[in-house]
Amino acid sequence: MKIAFYDVKPYDKPWFDRLAPEYDCEIKYLDYHLNVDTARFSETCEVVCVFVNDMVDKAAIDVLAEIGVKLIALRCAGYNNVDLKSACEAGIRVVRVPEYSPAAVAEHAMALLLCVNRKIHRAYSRTRENNFNINGLIGFDLQGKTAGIIGTGKIGSAFARICNGFGMRVIAYDPSPDENFVGDYFSLDEVFRQSDIVSLHCPLVPQTRHMLNGETIAALKDGVVIINTSRGGLIDTPALINALKSKKLYGAGLDVYEEEADYFFGDYSAEIITDDDLARLLSFPNVVLTSHQAFFTEEATRQIAETTLKNIQDFSASNNGGSFVNEITCDNVKRLN
Ligand code: NAI
Repeated sequence: MKIAFYDVKPYDKPWFDRLAPEYDCEIKYLDYHLNVDTARFSETCEVVCVFVNDMVDKAAIDVLAEIGVKLIALRCAGYNNVDLKSACEAGIRVVRVPEYSPAAVAEHAMALLLCVNRKIHRAYSRTRENNFNINGLIGFDLQGKTAGIIGTGKIGSAFARICNGFGMRVIAYDPSPDENFVGDYFSLDEVFRQSDIVSLHCPLVPQTRHMLNGETIAALKDGVVIINTSRGGLIDTPALINALKSKKLYGAGLDVYEEEADYFFGDYSAEIITDDDLARLLSFPNVVLTSHQAFFTEEATRQIAETTLKNIQDFSASNNGGSFVNEITCDNVKRLN
């Protein structure tokens, strides 16, 4: 199979280059996003391989269909950036990597929580400057606090187990509860009302967009830490900024940001940031923002390459016939609608 590999990063190549021959795949690397303007560059390829910030909307899908692309292979778990309905209507199949290392993301969520709580980012800067003063760096014990987990799939469950290990009380909301979950389920409102920490682990779909907004943030206790390693669109950013300005929140640890596509994964250290919300978020001492790196471990990157290439091989073997593992089918689309 010939694959147009969009938005390639240096860390993608080692595993994909090593494994592609085993899966009989030939990869054309492209170092820009897939969108309506760049879709045509995948001509002669049956497969496009995309990541979190490629914009696979109807306009791009129409071009892909016109030039004969048959498969969209996401090399990530979330698929909010793909218009599944349009892909389905165009007869283009969609696959993803549903699980590569839930531990990687859950551990990063805890790293963000610890960093925000104990102000490690500020302590690091101080000691680098030979400033050993600890004034203002006080945190709180996680033991005994309530972690509210929204979405108890693979990552939410892994985060819950970590929180358990810290001696925290774990509560959760998920419309499809898991009987093996290590905490107690409540309604979404109740989780928001009881939590000291709110950690988001559900997918971004129309029903979850801006689930943390002015109203739901107002319903939180005072002094809550918000952790988001899922998708930026789960949070209404201006509402988050207002809550930080008014000191309603203790802080926030964010690995994702609603408008991240313009900046994340790039080096803009010599540029002026023109996104005022992003610049404002970065100005808060109690916000730790990482650039969508929660997945980024050795184990996860290898697994992503293996599963993506296996998905493509399964598609090839199916001769565009019956469904195969890791496919997001038209039935999924109907359920989401
Ligand atoms: P998963 O599919 O195992 O779990 C998602 C859970 O969310 C399911 O249990 C589902 O029932 C639940 N859910 C669906 N609608 C909900 C709603 N309205 N409210 C609350 N829960 C709801 O997915 P997984 O692997 O745990 O990943 C979760 C999210 O993490 C992904 O959707 C993706 O956006 C994000 N992610 C972020 C990464 C990063 O590097 N920052 C890497 C991998 C995933």
